[in-house]
Amino acid sequence: MYKSTIRTSAFLTTLTLLLSACGGANTGTNTTNTATNTASTSPSAIPIGVALAQTSNVALLGQEQVAGAKIAEKYFNEQGGIDGTPIKLVFQDTGGDEAGTINAFQTLINNDRVVGIVGPTLSQQAFSADPIAERAKVPVIGPSNTAKGIPQIGDYVARVSAPVTVVAPNSVQAALKSNPNIKRVAVFYAQNDAFSKSETEVFQQTVKEQGLELVTVQKFQTTDTDFQTQATNALNLKPDLVIISGLAADGGNLVKQLRELGYQGSIIGGNGLNTSNVFSVCQEHCNGVLIAQAYSPEHPGEINAAFRNAYSSQYKKEPPQFSAQAYTAVQVYVEALKALDSKTDISTLSLPQLRTELNKQILAGSYQTPLGEISFTPEGEVVQKEFYVAQIKMNNNGNSGQFAFLK
Ligand code: ALA
Repeated sequence: MYKSTIRTSAFLTTLTLLLSACGGANTGTNTTNTATNTASTSPSAIPIGVALAQTSNVALLGQEQVAGAKIAEKYFNEQGGIDGTPIKLVFQDTGGDEAGTINAFQTLINNDRVVGIVGPTLSQQAFSADPIAERAKVPVIGPSNTAKGIPQIGDYVARVSAPVTVVAPNSVQAALKSNPNIKRVAVFYAQNDAFSKSETEVFQQTVKEQGLELVTVQKFQTTDTDFQTQATNALNLKPDLVIISGLAADGGNLVKQLRELGYQGSIIGGNGLNTSNVFSVCQEHCNGVLIAQAYSPEHPGEINAAFRNAYSSQYKKEPPQFSAQAYTAVQVYVEALKALDSKTDISTLSLPQLRTELNKQILAGSYQTPLGEISFTPEGEVVQKEFYVAQIKMNNNGNSGQFAFLK
């Protein structure tokens, strides 16, 4: 256990030496750490990397993740950190692409000398950058990567974001429950995005399993803003359910343009649309969109109550799934570090040893989180029990709204 002053000093000395040897934990040239708590400024804090999309269109998702991670940092440091030693989140902005993510990972691994990484935002980015962490033997916890195949990237890659296979079908079942007359389904997906391609396969499979008719599959790019051709093609086939796998900006625009063209049937949005940041994109047309959820603000338990209170007092709304998952990823690091320290004095470990032992501990543990109790398969796939479906309810002003959870 990490209790005695002597052992704390030993750990700090080791870490200080490690950090000074590489110029400090927080001296990466493009470090954008904006964490606010005092503990985070301590040179002795244990650095955990956070590689998320803080800029670009993908920041519609990434900003929610940054919020969740910061709430976790503050909360767990107030609880005493790792037996008295605080953690420090070191943020590197990935932007929305693969190159920025590779750069962020390399900086976190080599300059910031983090013990592990939370990130990236997109599966598309994870398939490029996670192999770098794998080769360097640095743990990665994906907070939102839901494409098939993420944990299989390597031994050091795990995720707290349940995959498309277990999340996506819930929304199709909810759509059928609310409208049993659905027969004809049009599916849209972003063909330049790994998650969207993975998710649409699950949606298409679910549609067939439910005995529905898949009348068309339309493709677009996450950078598209004009969907007139694909939307018109689909609407000519008279669907009564449209399912969209894309990201928030493109997906929101597609919803808007389908409604503007007169479509009145049901719409399911995939995980990339699961943010209130779509409200300003599709506005009143967001109303009624169904989205499966891997988190409910109403989940019982002490840790979710702490997270929900902290989030809602800061942001004046219920916490979203992306924030809850990022919080959970930080929590897993904290609890795994504590568990490891209770077995092996982590102050005696070199950074490579610490990264490797931490990775083993992450996979061995089970965690009471805002997502409920989670654990990992030996491959790093999250094991989670509860999922939900919410429906967007826009307010009369057409600009604000909320996710109403279905019973
Ligand atoms: N769930 C989305 C992805 O995996 C954000 O890319």
